[in-house]
Parts: sequence; C-alpha cells; structure tokens
Amino acid sequence: MKILVTGANGLVGRRIIRTLAQDKENLIYATSQKKVQFDINTNFFTVNLVYSDLNQLIETLNPDVLIHCAAMASPDACEADRYSAYKINVEVTARLAAACRDYGAHMIFLSSDFIFDGNKGNYTEEDIPSPISYYGETKVEAEKSILDLNIGASIVRTSLVFGYDEQLARPNIVLRVIDNLKKGKSFKVPIDQFRTPTDADDLAKGIFGLAQKKLGGIYNISGGQRISVYELAKQVALAFGYNDELLIPVKSVDLPEPAKRPLDSGLNIDKAIKTLNYTPTPLASSIERIKDHIR
Ligand SMILES: NC(=O)c1ccc[n+]([C@@H]2O[C@H](COP(=O)([O-])OP(=O)(O)OC[C@H]3O[C@@H](n4cnc5c(N)ncnc54)[C@H](OP(=O)(O)O)[C@@H]3O)[C@@H](O)[C@H]2O)c1
Repeated sequence: MKILVTGANGLVGRRIIRTLAQDKENLIYATSQKKVQFDINTNFFTVNLVYSDLNQLIETLNPDVLIHCAAMASPDACEADRYSAYKINVEVTARLAAACRDYGAHMIFLSSDFIFDGNKGNYTEEDIPSPISYYGETKVEAEKSILDLNIGASIVRTSLVFGYDEQLARPNIVLRVIDNLKKGKSFKVPIDQFRTPTDADDLAKGIFGLAQKKLGGIYNISGGQRISVYELAKQVALAFGYNDELLIPVKSVDLPEPAKRPLDSGLNIDKAIKTLNYTPTPLASSIERIKDHIR
C-alpha cells in the first residue's frame, strides 16, 4: 500500500509510521512543517499544508490511503490563535478530503474526544458532539466537512494519547510527569478530568487495520480503561519509582489553562473491538513499555 501520513513530527504520526514500516509492502510518504531527524526510512518532506496546493500533493503522490494527523492539537494554542487553528484543523482537512475524493485515496482523519462536553462519559460513535473549546469546535467542523462529501472516509476519535518517541513536536502527559518528577519538581494534575488514555502504538495498530480494510465511518480508538488524569500520573510515578507526593491534585477550575477541558470524555471502544479486532494494551503494561526507552 502507498500511504501518505501528515503530521510526522507528532507522537501519533510517528508511531503510525513506525507501525506501517514493519510491513515491507508499505510505501510510506510523510510530511511535517519542520525538518526533524527520524530514524525510519520514509519519503519525508517538509510542507506547510495551509499554503500548499493539496490537489497537486495528492495527485502527484497518488496514495492509496491518506492518514491525516497534522493539526494544531494543543487546545490552549487553538484558543490563543483561532485563525491558524481554523486554517490547519478545518480548511486543510476539508481540502484534503476533496482531493482524496478527486484522486481516489481513502482518507483517515484524526479527531478527538474533545468534541464532547464531558458531562456524560463513555461516549459512543453515535453521541452528538457538543464541544466546549475552540479546538473541539474545529474538530467537529472538520469531521462535518469530511462526512458532507460522503467519500467513505474513516474518522478516528481518540483520547489522551501517550507514548515515547524521539524529538516529538509536543510532550504528552506521561512524558511531562516523568520529566518533572525526575527533576524533583512538583506537578499539578487535575483530579476531576477522566479519560480513556491511549497507548500511541495501540492507536497506530488500529489505524493500520482501518487502512487495510478501508472501512468508512466513525471509530473510537482509545484505551480500554477510564481513569482520572491524576490517577494516571500517579501510576506513572509509581512505575518509575518517583515520589508521587510531588503530584499535586487540583480541580480543573484551579488550573490556569486558557481552553476549557471536558471533565469526562472517556470513549466507548466496543465498535473498534468488534469490527477491527482492536485490543488495547492494559495501561500498566503500556507504562512499563515506556520504561524501556526512558531511565
Ligand atoms: N495527542 C493526543 O492526546 C490527541 C488526542 C486526541 C486527538 N488527537 C489528534 O491526533 C492528531 C495527532 O496528534 P499529535 O498529538 O500527534 O499532534 P502533535 O504532536 O501536535 O503534532 C502535530 C503535527 O502536525 C504538524 N503540523 C501542524 N501544523 C501544520 C501545517 N500547517 N502544515 C503541516 N504540518 C503541520 C506538525 O508539524 P511540525 O511539528 O513540523 O510543526 C506536527 O507534525 C491530531 O489531529 C490531534 O488533534 C491527539
């Protein structure tokens, strides 16, 4: 399969590329804005998707599958620069969807649990989005732009992705906990935000399954365990042997974050388990696996 992955400097893009590279049948193209060293041999190129001719990109590379991970994925960054967030999260996604329609590529789009307000939890693919942040709004609009074209694309909703890779565009919660506690620094963590934290490698495998089957529709692909962000941080601290008293449990209202976070945005993954044979790794095992990389 010829596969184009956007957002190759992010955790999700990186782990997807590593998973795809394990199958020698895959020819991988990868894009990012900045040039960053990457040990996997891909056809990598830098491009700002906002200012690119995306029709030409898809026509030239002619991928069987496009896995679109590039985004402004920090909710606070989206709040601070709504114009740029809209450009990359919504406009680029809509233009890529149209290009996939025109050149016959199967599109897989990365969406988020932040499309929900977090009042219900255990969200299924049928639940109605009700975002409370601008980031969430952009994801809802991007999803809608894809669904409106009716091109049989896959929309993957995921939640709090964690894992290790080199030179990542952004640190994830697990790496931030490790980094702070290793330095003996205290770290504030919300006790009232619940997620289904996702091992980036599980997500990558689930997405590869979707790419092979080219299944259209919405799929929740996340971890199988609902847990508070504070409890997750505590598990990391204990697994790494750090002083968990450095973790300061706080309520969301007491965290100085520009973007509002849903309280319980856990995802229900029954559909992925049934249709993709998706099996999430137990949280404790995923955290243990990170220890192989960081000491
Ligand atoms: N991480 C999570 O917990 C999580 C949860 C739910 C959903 N998601 C979704 O999953 C996807 C991947 O997330 P992530 O955490 O891997 O994101 P990330 O670490 O922030 O990486 C985003 C990637 O997008 C690229 N990018 C941003 N603007 C671009 C532009 N104008 N042109 C070209 N490339 C651009 C970045 O390139 P440079 O680094 O070179 O600028 C980077 O490679 C996103 O759609 C995100 O919304 C993530």
